[in-house]
Amino acid sequence: MKVLLISDIHSNWEAWQAVQAATAAESPDEVWNSGDLTGYGPDPALCVDVFRSMANARLVLGNHDRVVSKLESPIGFNPHAIVAAFKNLAKLNQEQCSWLAGLPRQLVVKEGILICHGSPVDADEYLLTAQVTLPSFAFMKEWGIRLAFFGHTHVPSFFVYGDDGDLVADQDPLTNQWFNLDLSGGKSYLINPGSVGQPRDGDSRSAYAILELKGEKGRFCFHRVPYQIQVCQEKMRREKFPDILVNRLSIGY
Ligand SMILES: [Fe+2]
Repeated sequence: MKVLLISDIHSNWEAWQAVQAATAAESPDEVWNSGDLTGYGPDPALCVDVFRSMANARLVLGNHDRVVSKLESPIGFNPHAIVAAFKNLAKLNQEQCSWLAGLPRQLVVKEGILICHGSPVDADEYLLTAQVTLPSFAFMKEWGIRLAFFGHTHVPSFFVYGDDGDLVADQDPLTNQWFNLDLSGGKSYLINPGSVGQPRDGDSRSAYAILELKGEKGRFCFHRVPYQIQVCQEKMRREKFPDILVNRLSIGY
């Protein structure tokens, strides 16, 4: 099967449209989305509606989605994120809000394969270094998870836990390069495809990944695609989103 891996669209319709166009020819069987469909950007309703109607999409709640769907207050959010979250919240009708609130916090999409937002052990955790992934790998081993996809950091990442039980490899998430996966041995993998709608690795292009699975073997590849950043920024300026959130899209941070 072929899967489009995405995360952190953050109400950026133009970015999602670019990823969809770039991957249409691949005809992915499923779309696995690690959360934060909403927050930060100007188009939460369009993003919610498109994923509500997508029969092959599997997705989980992100921390912004929890606030935008009124499940939680924005504790721990910076002031700009709070302003954007409340603007998002005001744009969703009751039906859209309930659908978002009903998403699972994490999801086993296939036997031994999990999608989550922050990490397999904590939806709000930032997995930015190999060091902090250790508890997640311990959890994965305990629960028989060989492959976990996460988001939240907005940085493409790839961590491997080795056969011997304690070796952590922190692999360079090079774009357009296939990485092999073997789910039959002792290895476990944690992969973040990066952010569609608000990349934070210094590259303003939308990030996504393609996964191919055949039995217990597989491979995946990170990709980037440019999108119409100015169109999204114009909407945000018109609707008085905080300048810092508008400008960061240009620099990919
Ligand atoms: Fe996010």
